[in-house]
Amino acid sequence: MAVRTIFTIGDEVLRKHAKPVETIDKRIKTLLDDMAQTMYAADGAGLAAPQVGILRRVVTIDVGEGLIELINPQIISQEGSQVGPEGCLSIPGRRCTVERPMKVKVRAQGRDGRTFELDAEGFLAVAVCHELDHLDGILYVDKMIEDVTGKTEEAPKRGEDEE
Ligand code: NI
Repeated sequence: MAVRTIFTIGDEVLRKHAKPVETIDKRIKTLLDDMAQTMYAADGAGLAAPQVGILRRVVTIDVGEGLIELINPQIISQEGSQVGPEGCLSIPGRRCTVERPMKVKVRAQGRDGRTFELDAEGFLAVAVCHELDHLDGILYVDKMIEDVTGKTEEAPKRGEDEE
C-alpha cells in the first residue's frame, strides 16, 4: 500500500469523466488500498480516484463508521435535502455550504465484484454525493451556496471532515 499524491483544483484531471471499471483486477484492488491509506493519511472522509489521478469510477469513504469501497457507484434514488459545509482534499483550506439530498440509495460493486446497495443518510449521503460528483469532474465549489471558510460557529462534527 502506498499514500498517493492528491491532485488539487486547477489540475485538469479533476475535471474529467472517470471511466467505469470493467474488471476488478489486482490494479483496482491496489488502487482501493492506496486510496484508503491516502484518505486516512490526509484525515479525509472520502476520496475519489480522479483525486489521485486515476480516471476510474472508484471511491472510498469513511465518515467514522468504517471504510466503504464503491466501484462503479450510481445513485438510484434520493430524497429530502440538507445544506451544510463541505471541504475537499483537492481544495485545501476552503469550506463552502452545498445543498445535497438528505438520503440517497447507491448501487455499486465491492472489491469482490458483487453488486450491493447502500442506504446513506445525513453526512454519509453528503460524502457519497460529493465523491460521486468527482467521478464526473464536478467539484463541490461548483455548487457552492456560500463560502464559509474560516467561520467556526457552525462546527459540528462534520465541520472537521473533508472529502
Ligand atoms: Ni472532494
